[in-house]
Amino acid sequence: MNKEEILEAFNYRFACKEFDENEKIDDDDLSFILETGRLSPSSFGLEQWKFLVVRNGGLKAKLREASFDQQQLTTCSEVVVILAKKGLYEPGSAHVAKMFKRWNYPDDLYNMLIDFHSNLMAEIDMTRWAVEQCHIAAGNMMTSAAMIGIDSCAIGGFEHEKVEKILNIDKEKFEPAMMITFGYREHDEQPEKARLPFDDVVEFVGGKGY
Ligand SMILES: Cc1cc2nc3c(=O)[nH]c(=O)nc-3n(C[C@H](O)[C@H](O)[C@H](O)COP(=O)(O)O)c2cc1C
Repeated sequence: MNKEEILEAFNYRFACKEFDENEKIDDDDLSFILETGRLSPSSFGLEQWKFLVVRNGGLKAKLREASFDQQQLTTCSEVVVILAKKGLYEPGSAHVAKMFKRWNYPDDLYNMLIDFHSNLMAEIDMTRWAVEQCHIAAGNMMTSAAMIGIDSCAIGGFEHEKVEKILNIDKEKFEPAMMITFGYREHDEQPEKARLPFDDVVEFVGGKGY
């Protein structure tokens, strides 16, 4: 893919409000999208996410009700609910140790990472931090979907308690971070992108020289 084609995909993606209910995503395409979520970067490489795929019509209707009646939830082909893992990251966590061991680092580097992680966790809201990582995976999945002509809408507007109940989510272990509806747009046209100008959002501090 060249740069133009990649930017084309970024412009093609938009928050699709209505999907074609008759067009379903095939399994291979859905796996591709989920794979780009799985391969996403995360703080300390801890992969603080789980992806629940909902395609059952009854469940989608319940999720719509829990999402202020947004029609994306029932017109889409699949809803992917991204759960942030929680309760696993306290300082001294065995889970974190297991995750870090995957890298086979020398002992001094491994111990330094464990200390660094423990110190950070003592200072921050761990659930919020896990949710932030889920948003990175969400962005990648929506972009990769656009690259293969699949539409999406990020859904942050939902009632957490209702979604937890509908999907039987263990609140001790998971926090619903975001949902994404995937499918094919019902209407060909899409709204013009409203974005701040490049120079408003990009600044070269200290000039452009190295
Ligand atoms: C975290 C997050 C939550 C969002 N929640 C919703 C939502 O509940 N419903 C919706 O229609 N769009 C939602 N959006 C989509 C944004 O409104 C949309 O991306 C933004 O207005 C820019 O438009 P565009 O994506 O079409 O370029 C959400 C986006 C993000 C990143």
